[in-house]
Amino acid sequence: MRHLLDPTDLSTAEIDAIIERALDIIAHKEKYADACRGKKLATLFYEPSTRTRLSFTAAMMELGGNVLGFSDARSSSVSKGETVADTIRVVSAFADIVAMRHYKEGAPRVASEYSRIPIINAGDGGHSHPTQTMTDLLTIRRELGHFDHLTVGLCGDLKYGRTVHSLIKAMRRYEGVQFVLISPKELRLPDYMKNELGDNYRECSTLEEAMPLVDVLYMTRVQQERFADKAEYERLKDSFILDTEKMALGKPSMIVLHPLPRVNEITVEVDKDPRAAYFRQVENGKYVRMALIYTLLQWKEQAQPSALTPTATDCPCHNDRCISTTEPVEKKAYRDADGVLRCFYCDHSLG
Ligand code: CP
Repeated sequence: MRHLLDPTDLSTAEIDAIIERALDIIAHKEKYADACRGKKLATLFYEPSTRTRLSFTAAMMELGGNVLGFSDARSSSVSKGETVADTIRVVSAFADIVAMRHYKEGAPRVASEYSRIPIINAGDGGHSHPTQTMTDLLTIRRELGHFDHLTVGLCGDLKYGRTVHSLIKAMRRYEGVQFVLISPKELRLPDYMKNELGDNYRECSTLEEAMPLVDVLYMTRVQQERFADKAEYERLKDSFILDTEKMALGKPSMIVLHPLPRVNEITVEVDKDPRAAYFRQVENGKYVRMALIYTLLQWKEQAQPSALTPTATDCPCHNDRCISTTEPVEKKAYRDADGVLRCFYCDHSLG
């Protein structure tokens, strides 16, 4: 069965096909009004969400299906100590497809190992958020018409920003795409993600330096919930703020994206600029999730193609945000292109 745990679970051709499906849904909504009649989506959200959970719900409703689940794991038997593995075995009996958000990295992968129905990762810790990436790609496609030869600026929390990590994994596969990284040094992109970029990136220390270079500016908030040290969060939270003066330095054709929620990293005056595409991006999230639910239910009989071949390991994962630190999962690892041994669940180095 096919799951969507990471953008790399989809080939470039499959990403393009899902984007085309979303465009067809936008153009012919009536054609899809009964496409999932009789099917049920379970939304299992162990971490807060506005856009992702509500857009999944709206997406399934517009496909004629039904939705069940929880928006707060404390109202479920998770609060009694039930594992992800057991929860998903139970939910497999009630639903046809799952959208899962979890604060532990790799939790949706663990769910996929015990599930009888497709799992969609709706965000796991600081690791991955593939449906946000599909939202971002649909927005770029609708706003700019293509992905090739774009320069993408990524600004803010590049260390914990799962939307950034997933967008890089998807966009780097298109020809001629360059990245500009703008972050405080404490929140720089992890090395394992920089390895994905090869020579196709540069780092800027100010937004002013980056603005004239980029076709897409992807702003992110500094994520308070990922910091163990709150004083460190307070020190870093105002590092990069996009305002109208900085917008004036950007190309007329540039677009500004943000996965939202915004805190203060984009001033509200910027919202009036037609290049601010982040609220149009939110609506695209519903259409692309319609396309994903529709497609994954059709792919239900297909085997999951795996770019990674994991093996059992004795090495524990030292990432305290990894699901393997709290669930009794089999320890698994894989070797990346540079031969580094990495945790199968959260991708952190086991060295
Ligand atoms: N972009 C995003 O994931 O938003 P939510 O946290 O509100 O779902």
